[in-house]
Amino acid sequence: MTRVFSGIKPTGHLTLGNYLGAMRRWAEVDQHGADALFCVVDLHALTVDHDPARVRRLSRQAATLLLAAGLDPQLCTVFVQSHVDEHARLSYVLECVATDGEMRRMIQYKEKAARERARGRSVRLSLLTYPVLMAADILAYRTDEVPVGDDQTQHVELARDLAVRFNQRYGQTFVVPRAARPQVAARVMNLQEPASKMGKSDDSGPGIVYLLDEPDTVRKKVMRAVTDSGRDVVYDREGRPGVANLLEILAACTGGDPRALGEAYASYGALKKDTAEAVVEVLRPVQARHKDLCADPSYVEDVLRRGADRARAMARPTVDAAYRAIGLLPAGAEAVVNAAR
Ligand code: TRP
Repeated sequence: MTRVFSGIKPTGHLTLGNYLGAMRRWAEVDQHGADALFCVVDLHALTVDHDPARVRRLSRQAATLLLAAGLDPQLCTVFVQSHVDEHARLSYVLECVATDGEMRRMIQYKEKAARERARGRSVRLSLLTYPVLMAADILAYRTDEVPVGDDQTQHVELARDLAVRFNQRYGQTFVVPRAARPQVAARVMNLQEPASKMGKSDDSGPGIVYLLDEPDTVRKKVMRAVTDSGRDVVYDREGRPGVANLLEILAACTGGDPRALGEAYASYGALKKDTAEAVVEVLRPVQARHKDLCADPSYVEDVLRRGADRARAMARPTVDAAYRAIGLLPAGAEAVVNAAR
């Protein structure tokens, strides 16, 4: 069975973009058709200036929302990255395979490092090595497919390069993964700046719909979405990005086609109204399940504990194999077992 791994970073509240662009598909498709792991990658949230209490809170919330979105611990493995030591263990070994130049060429590193400097902050070393940790996340599980957005394809490429290089130098150890870019997933843009993605790490604002926004907040944000000059509703991503975004959100929520939906509307106002209601309806069951799960925190903790146990057992043999292959001396018990072979 295909092994799928994806991660979600607890750096902000999860958004409608996370849901329609990724989480919903994980729940509806990936967990059924593949051997799938979904990880709250909390170590990755420490690469830029952070508040410890907030990261902790957001990690728990992200895990709860993954379950609320329909991930079923009977079908897939949901866990928190820092609960499984193998990620950090493998990351170091992969740092010995990656090069400094390779890291500095990463587009996200360049952008985020520039942003940190512009804010007068120093750049954490972990921001530079972040893609290696991400490669470790992927390679530790012998992952075949990594469903991610286009902003992550360069990082998945790096994971591929490192796997191939390690295998060539030290012997066949890792599966070479590929990025999977689902065709059907919606690309939800910021309602106020339809040229940029509705990301959770952006500095909040009225253009982002959060999964836990109250219905009236959702309505307000959608009704205030920027539209384009012109009045007729046509689906044109280049020329009319604001309207196209609303049509795509509506289509993703109702299962229609954005172009066909565009022809059904005579005004921006009507389109916004229907889009707002469609979003409210899509979020309603997720919010209801989230509320139930919050009432029973020991259930979520239990799911995460069992998820981490399962993940650790999956990752351990591969990471051990990588340690041996690269030349690290096995610890006592293991050496005795090996010598006896
Ligand atoms: N870097 C990803 C992001 O910012 C999150 C991530 C970390 C990830 N490790 C991963 C995604 C492994 C897929 C697989 O969104």
